[in-house]
Amino acid sequence: GSSIPDSDSNPKPVNQTLKLATVFGLWYFHNVIFNIYNKKSLNVFPYPWFLATFQLFTGCIWMLANWSINRRFPKISKDPALFHTVGHISACVSFSKVAVSFTHVIKSAEPVFSVIFSSFLGEIYPLKVWLSILPIVFGCSLAAVTEVSFNLGGLSGAMISNFGFVLRNIYSKKSLQNFKEIDGLNLYGLISLVSFVYLLPVAILVEGSQWVGGYKNAIVAVGGRSMEFYGMVLCSGIFYHLYNQSSYQALDDISPLTFSVGNTMKRVVVIVATVLFFRNPVKPLNALGSGIAILGTFLYSQVTAKKGKKKEEEKSS
Ligand code: 3PG
Repeated sequence: GSSIPDSDSNPKPVNQTLKLATVFGLWYFHNVIFNIYNKKSLNVFPYPWFLATFQLFTGCIWMLANWSINRRFPKISKDPALFHTVGHISACVSFSKVAVSFTHVIKSAEPVFSVIFSSFLGEIYPLKVWLSILPIVFGCSLAAVTEVSFNLGGLSGAMISNFGFVLRNIYSKKSLQNFKEIDGLNLYGLISLVSFVYLLPVAILVEGSQWVGGYKNAIVAVGGRSMEFYGMVLCSGIFYHLYNQSSYQALDDISPLTFSVGNTMKRVVVIVATVLFFRNPVKPLNALGSGIAILGTFLYSQVTAKKGKKKEEEKSS
């Protein structure tokens, strides 16, 4: 069927649980490395449109090589690439304007967008679900007003990214359910390819005229060690692809809602890792706000998981 499960309430066999745990581990790990190389690149070459496009390009090369070796080119008619493009470029613009941790705090509100979109699509949520998103909104707001690196562009980029990725996840899961012959890894490969085609012309239009000058400045900023610059940009591309590929392998087995919640838990790891790595100043109230937002997501996942279970019981009775 084409209906999207709200949560994953069926117990999974042990080997599937192990596979899922590995995939989640790789997803989080690759994402931390991506966030570090991406921000290192942005620090010397502040052109998010170039980097976002290059990261998709790396994925295209990776998957084209994979498909040629395996002589298998998957085809599907509909795909969620447009939402992926919007989610990715807006996150990158946000990363270029504020501390990485701040973008991820705002992005921890992704499940809130999930509820809002699903209710527009006809889902009805009990009051406690709406109440459980209040701490997320409150925590994010507290983190925003106390953020040292605060900037409106950084905040709105992260919000737009939430909008893009929630829709991407819903449509990706639909594609995985409707086109059984394609798995998450290959679906993500196709998404990269189409997103790259969407993003390249727009990136050239928005920023292309500044790339040559920016490149010269970047080489000066890394003290003339051009290989160092190429290395960090390339790593941002490779790890971008790897973390998304792992996350789509997880999406094979979980609902879009569990995906959003798992993604928020990932942000805890990324926030801590990047604050330590970049030695970003954090005010106590800011840390409190981030903590409340993430705790809110946990509460929210608890009430929505119960709702999913109830649905299953209604179906089987
Ligand atoms: C991106 O470039 O798209 C960012 O990494 C944000 O994505 P996330 O929601 O997967 O962390």
